[in-house]
Amino acid sequence: MENKKDSRPINFSRTTITELMIPSYANFGGKIHGGILLSLMDKVAYACASKHSGAYCVTVSVDTVDFLKPVSVGELVSLKASVNYVGNSSMVIGIKVISEDVKTGKVNHTNTSYFTMIAKGDDDKPFTVPKLILETPTDLRRFVEAIYRRKFKRSYGESLKDIKSHWEDEDIKALLKNERCINKADL
Ligand SMILES: CC(C)(COP(=O)(O)OP(=O)(O)OC[C@H]1O[C@@H](n2cnc3c(N)ncnc32)[C@H](O)[C@@H]1OP(=O)(O)O)[C@@H](O)C(=O)NCCC(=O)NCCS
Repeated sequence: MENKKDSRPINFSRTTITELMIPSYANFGGKIHGGILLSLMDKVAYACASKHSGAYCVTVSVDTVDFLKPVSVGELVSLKASVNYVGNSSMVIGIKVISEDVKTGKVNHTNTSYFTMIAKGDDDKPFTVPKLILETPTDLRRFVEAIYRRKFKRSYGESLKDIKSHWEDEDIKALLKNERCINKADL
């Protein structure tokens, strides 16, 4: 299905969600569950992607989530999302997560991740999204980085497949030599 809008600037769909971290979000250690943050990231990615595309969207892939700093109860978490790249039906949404201690004003960057979202039409088929208008050097850098991330992901998958297709007992023994495991399994 074709989209009526031909192209849209990044600012059209830029989205921020801010949420107060309440006690029910905490784990046994008193810090916020990673899953709570992932859920918020998925929400902001959805909002941003559906705004850009004007369509229902699904998450197809998440490019690494590394939690750099713990988040505490009582902090305000803000998730800033923008479209970094568009393909035909796919959109890469860059999300920056920051937490703020409301009493001291101290801000931590907790992570940056890239969610790939696919727009779907009313027929549930992938839907062609508007082109992305790149207006600043940052817009351009993010678009190009997304192209490279996609290439690296593809070559990483191919390399792993290649290694798995012909690994030898001797290679595995050498690999495990300095690992902290006791291997009782056959290959
Ligand atoms: C997303 C989905 C529709 C893609 O289906 P598909 O048969 O691979 O469709 P296509 O081959 O036409 O690909 C559609 C787009 O998805 C992209 N895509 C598919 N798999 C991908 C992946 N693993 N990572 C990144 N992009 C991917 C393709 O590159 C293509 O992008 P483009 O249109 O910009 O060129 C299908 O995999 C799906 O429904 N997944 C479940 C999504 C979901 O339910 N998410 C919620 C999680 S509970």
